[in-house]
Amino acid sequence: MKLKNRVVVVTGSGSGIGRSCAIEFAKEGARVVVADINLQGAEETVRQIRESGGDSIPFRTDVSDPDSVIKLVDFTIKHGQN
Ligand SMILES: NC(=O)c1ccc[n+]([C@@H]2O[C@H](COP(=O)([O-])OP(=O)(O)OC[C@H]3O[C@@H](n4cnc5c(N)ncnc54)[C@H](O)[C@@H]3O)[C@@H](O)[C@H]2O)c1
Repeated sequence: MKLKNRVVVVTGSGSGIGRSCAIEFAKEGARVVVADINLQGAEETVRQIRESGGDSIPFRTDVSDPDSVIKLVDFTIKHGQN
């Protein structure tokens, strides 16, 4: 596992390409913060990661809103530690 004890943030990971990236990072041992404007989609990605033994947490983020991105960074610093 290349990413053990590392934290990865994937924006737009509530579906599609972002979800696939989040799942692959988790397979490599990272704790993945799944950030998406669609919280339900983010929660589904997290469910899939946890189901296969990975470590992941969801966070609602709008990447077009600077305040929302700052909150994502703060959340990751507080909760992203393994
Ligand atoms: N260049 C290429 O060859 C190529 C190929 C495929 C996809 N794409 C592009 O890549 C992107 C992703 O494609 P996809 O198929 O995974 O799309 P998708 O719609 O499945 O995934 C996009 C995700 O981004 C989230 N999102 C949208 N606005 C957001 C915001 N403001 N803040 C946070 N999250 C937000 C959505 O909720 C969704 O979960 C698209 O822009 C698509 O056009 C490019």
